[in-house]
Amino acid sequence: MELKDRIKEIREKISEEIEKITSHKSFLEIKTKFLGRGGEIQGLFKGMREVPQEERPEAGKNINDLSSWAAALFDKKEEKIKAEELAERIESEKIDVTMPGKRTEPGSYHPDTLIKRQLVDVFAGMGFEIYEGPEIETDYYNFTALNTPKDHPARDMQDTFYITPELLLRTQTSAGQIRVMENKKPPIKILSPGKVYRSDSDATHSPMFSQMEGLVVDEGITLCDLKGMLDEFARKIFGEKIKTRLRPSYFPFTEPSVEVDVSCFSCHGAGCRLCKGTGWIEVLGAGMVNRRVLSGCGIDPDRYTGFAFGMGVERIAMLKYGITNMKNLFDGDVKFLRQFKGTEV
Ligand code: DAH
Repeated sequence: MELKDRIKEIREKISEEIEKITSHKSFLEIKTKFLGRGGEIQGLFKGMREVPQEERPEAGKNINDLSSWAAALFDKKEEKIKAEELAERIESEKIDVTMPGKRTEPGSYHPDTLIKRQLVDVFAGMGFEIYEGPEIETDYYNFTALNTPKDHPARDMQDTFYITPELLLRTQTSAGQIRVMENKKPPIKILSPGKVYRSDSDATHSPMFSQMEGLVVDEGITLCDLKGMLDEFARKIFGEKIKTRLRPSYFPFTEPSVEVDVSCFSCHGAGCRLCKGTGWIEVLGAGMVNRRVLSGCGIDPDRYTGFAFGMGVERIAMLKYGITNMKNLFDGDVKFLRQFKGTEV
């Protein structure tokens, strides 16, 4: 075919194909087909070798003209395609600012968290440091070192989840007392919050619950110090007028041991359903650290004395917020939890 005719043919092909281009991707393909390195116009330049010498300048000019015509045409097309694609994107990403927004309702703190924070606040204010022990404990820390060896009847007070004969899910944060006393010399003043586990489940018991343990060891610590600290705790958590009273009790790791009651913050002593007509509500266990526990941890019981206390966080939450079924604290029901909105500390 004559070169002239080839040029004409390519010109027509370009005009035809450029019309059909609808995307930038196909644009690039077509452009390369004609103007690329191995493209049709390059092919014409290569074919110049066969053109007789005297016709070459004319032929070269014609191919150059074709090439610059095509380049200009493709540039124009590219601009158009880009503008179209941009317009399409803008259209598809358009936001209707008059549409109503999706409402996201902020959550509320769980009553457990609220009480935990209040307790930490009260005790940190009295100079307690926070210590968190492991939830998987050894039998030694959870029982034996707390003066509750394997054959001790007090082990029956707690239904334990054993993992192996020596490993268990801790039943009490009291285990942390031993870990602290083994590693720290008096003065000791720690608060140990954490989850504990017991095979127990009814309206007021759950297999997993939270405790808050306290331990103070120093020279000259007495039961009076415990009572004074408990009075402060009761006033801060349940109200200024609240009093505490100690009743004799038994825990293997304290001697003497006490059960701590607070005066009923619902009826203030008159007697109501909450306090079962007694005017008092039991809130925690406490006592003077047993000499055997101190010496087992390498602390001289003739020089140092201490008190300890342990309370159930859910129990305090239930009392304070009037919750009668413990299930409410574990169901994660938004309607229930919503009631605590705005009560955060
Ligand atoms: N660990 C006891 C329990 O889970 C509570 C307790 C009682 C902790 C007396 C103490 C304490 O530190 O002195 O029932």
